[in-house]
Amino acid sequence: MDIVSQFVPLKRKGRDYWACCPFHHEKTPSFQVRADYQYFKCFGCQKSGNVITFIMEHERLSYPEAVEWLAKKANLQIPESFESPDFKERKKTIKKIYAANLEAARFYNGVLFSSQGKKALDYLKKRGLSESTIKTFGLGYSPNAQELPKYMIKKGYAIETLEKAGLVRLDKLSSPYDFYAGRIIFPIINAFGDVTGFGGRALMETNFAKYLNTYASPAFDKKGTLYNINLFKKLKQSQPVKSLVLVEGYMDVISLHQGGIRNTMAPMGTSLTIEQCRIIKRYTDLVYVCFDGDSAGQSAALRSLDLLKEQGLDVKVVELPKDADPDDTIKKIGKKGFEKLLEEALPLLDFKLKKIEEKYDLSTLDGKNKYATEAIAELFKLNDIEKEVYAVKVSNKSGLSTDTILIGAKQPKPFAITAYEPPKNRLTSANLDAARFIFSAILNYKSFVDISGIKELSKDHFELEEHKKIYEYIMDSIQNGTSPQISDLFDLIEEKDEINSVIDALNNIYTENQQTYYIESLEQLKMDYRQKIINELKQKLSYETDENKKRELVIEYQKLIKNKNEEK
Ligand code: UTP
Ligand code: MN
Repeated sequence: MDIVSQFVPLKRKGRDYWACCPFHHEKTPSFQVRADYQYFKCFGCQKSGNVITFIMEHERLSYPEAVEWLAKKANLQIPESFESPDFKERKKTIKKIYAANLEAARFYNGVLFSSQGKKALDYLKKRGLSESTIKTFGLGYSPNAQELPKYMIKKGYAIETLEKAGLVRLDKLSSPYDFYAGRIIFPIINAFGDVTGFGGRALMETNFAKYLNTYASPAFDKKGTLYNINLFKKLKQSQPVKSLVLVEGYMDVISLHQGGIRNTMAPMGTSLTIEQCRIIKRYTDLVYVCFDGDSAGQSAALRSLDLLKEQGLDVKVVELPKDADPDDTIKKIGKKGFEKLLEEALPLLDFKLKKIEEKYDLSTLDGKNKYATEAIAELFKLNDIEKEVYAVKVSNKSGLSTDTILIGAKQPKPFAITAYEPPKNRLTSANLDAARFIFSAILNYKSFVDISGIKELSKDHFELEEHKKIYEYIMDSIQNGTSPQISDLFDLIEEKDEINSVIDALNNIYTENQQTYYIESLEQLKMDYRQKIINELKQKLSYETDENKKRELVIEYQKLIKNKNEEK
């Protein structure tokens, strides 16, 4: 009772206490608390339980989290013996990371509103964000590679903590540099208000990642992270919230918030995970999926919608025009217009059928057949009643009888045979630009270039024959203790345009950003190379018939994938 009365004003009537139910909207109290049994019940929405279930429901916590919450309130320690030393150590680390992240978020936020942050603030304002929105989301700006580490160390944070938090990385001389240097900072906050990680957006157009997110850390796991969960929870505590509008990006969340749609969250730029779906289910029963226009129909997005459905969520899909995202859309059509889009959202299956329909020409027999085959595969996942309902719809479109469709929809699904896909051509401009920039920096003797970083690469890291030659030439010079000369390139390779691209590469980047760009370029080449090896292995695997060799390849493949994920 003491606990419950902290959340809802209780009125005594006889032996019991009454209040307006915190779990549904009502004007007359139907929420009863019985002190003698330590029990609550709402006669309006039928929710009932004890103090632990109350906290689970009200604070959106899991059972152990609720127990811990209550223990904290009562100033009780969770018995020491319940926590292994490992667990305690980890918790201590996480606490340190939270503290460092909070301090860093404040630092970045301070910079944004100082003269150093002017161009970042201008950028955000140009994108339509008000100062109050910027403050609500605690946005910030990292001025350069050195300032944050300097500030944090002065404040007494250990470099080790900063590194674990993902705030800094160490360069070849083991001095820390800001991982998000030159980027706009989006603090990522969990349901309890801790800053777990960050997203950093490049200010200018860039060939490299537009956003850098915190890599996995003891405090940050993007698989279980949802942006804006903190404000969603607050909102839900202050008023009834019946649904979630799920969007793709930080900016979508922020822009919708400013536009008056506040019940939003976003995953971390990856497709939804089961963990995220489970968390969502704790907060709501209805999800409006509002992905960018060009990604909504894609198979990865569709699969993630199935995951939501499998958690028992009601899923509706909002379709945005191609090339539009929620951010653009609300700016254009306002809150009212956006609410109308939500109203018109299609239930998941209707959306899927529509997507299938769009793929084929239903005026031809072949088109109708293909449509029906794919549609039936979708109906297969439904319960019998739903099957009946949707069979009629598919029948109308395809001309097949509902009986035929139902027979198909109740058959076991045929095993899908997927064809081998050759590795994609990976000659991306990011890869080429990275190589050119590295050469350009070396040939201009930039002070931030360190030889050991270049030695970590090999000829194979470069795609173009010209680049392989330049790399060999540079390595030879280093070996011989001579300085590589730009003029020598003209003897080395015939493709003069490529030489010019290398020469220009340095000038295309502002001086103050060159060091960061250089570090990112090295990363880019290494990442691409790793992907190439993985692709080659995949290809070998698809042709290999010898079982033993196949097994070896699989082990090698898994190792590579694991390394790759750990680095990401
Ligand atoms: P978007 O490109 O839709 O981002 O990517 P956005 O939030 O709309 O950003 P603006 O409008 O271009 O500024 C969606 C999400 O994917 C992740 C981020 O979480 C982003 O919010 N992402 C995107 C990355 O992690 N890295 C990237 O390079 C790009
Ligand atoms: Mn956007």
